[in-house]
Amino acid sequence: MYTLKEIIDQLINIRRLPTLNPVVVMVEKTLNAEEPDVQHLSRVIADDPSLTSMLLKVANSALYGARREITTVQDAVVRLGFTEVRKLVVDISVVNYVADMPDGLLDPIDYWVHSIGVAICMEEIQQMTKVMDQNGPQSHVVGLLHDIGRLISSTHLREAYESLPDNPDELGWDWNIIEIERGRLGIDHAQVGAAVLDRWGLPNKIVDCVRYHHESDVCPEDQRKQTYLLALSDSICRNLHVGNSGEGYLPEVPEGLWKKLGLDSEILEEVTERVNAKIQKSQVLLNISGMRN
Ligand SMILES: [Fe+2]
Ligand SMILES: [Fe+2]
Repeated sequence: MYTLKEIIDQLINIRRLPTLNPVVVMVEKTLNAEEPDVQHLSRVIADDPSLTSMLLKVANSALYGARREITTVQDAVVRLGFTEVRKLVVDISVVNYVADMPDGLLDPIDYWVHSIGVAICMEEIQQMTKVMDQNGPQSHVVGLLHDIGRLISSTHLREAYESLPDNPDELGWDWNIIEIERGRLGIDHAQVGAAVLDRWGLPNKIVDCVRYHHESDVCPEDQRKQTYLLALSDSICRNLHVGNSGEGYLPEVPEGLWKKLGLDSEILEEVTERVNAKIQKSQVLLNISGMRN
């Protein structure tokens, strides 16, 4: 049994856990600025040649259907909009992080599809219902990173997961990874993920949603609604079999999560259609990251 501090020190100092591209932290911090400095951010992105070349590849892919080739970051901002470019930069950084992770117990493609699926689901529910006063891009990063603790622990602390089934079809409906992790490690993947994101300098708003995504009722009030939206979207993706982060599939989406957000579960059909229509984005990014050729 370890304390959270011992585990994080071990991951960072002994196992030399790689960090996420620091551009993500910069990008996310601009969310809090009243007037984001688009010029400055474009320069920061352009200073990273591999990020820029991937950004241009996605921007010129069939996903966006650009008629004329997009050749610079500035051009991408003008044609796709700052919000979309900001999201793409985060998507590319996270997909690269997943692709560069050494082999662990999770299938990286399944993990990636689950993460972007939850991000898309959060955004679509927000667009349909305006359940949050304002969020959007922040939901995207929260969804993308919510299970990063699963990826990290099943790679770097894999001894804790030995002999557990990794096929979601073999897991019963009452499978509870949190209890297993707490029993074996003393902490769970939500705590690991939050602590690592905090070390990397991501804003508290994001860190709290990750920390409480399996116990949203005790999340600090400021972030509780967004955490409910995350938990709901996570359940929807686990119900629809959108990717897999090793937490098992759910036979149904818990009704209580809809209620906590004041939403009607009847919208599930439309949410499903919207998520299925947008999930192709995950495939484009998989191709570009080299995880799937
Ligand atoms: Fe999780
Ligand atoms: Fe998840």
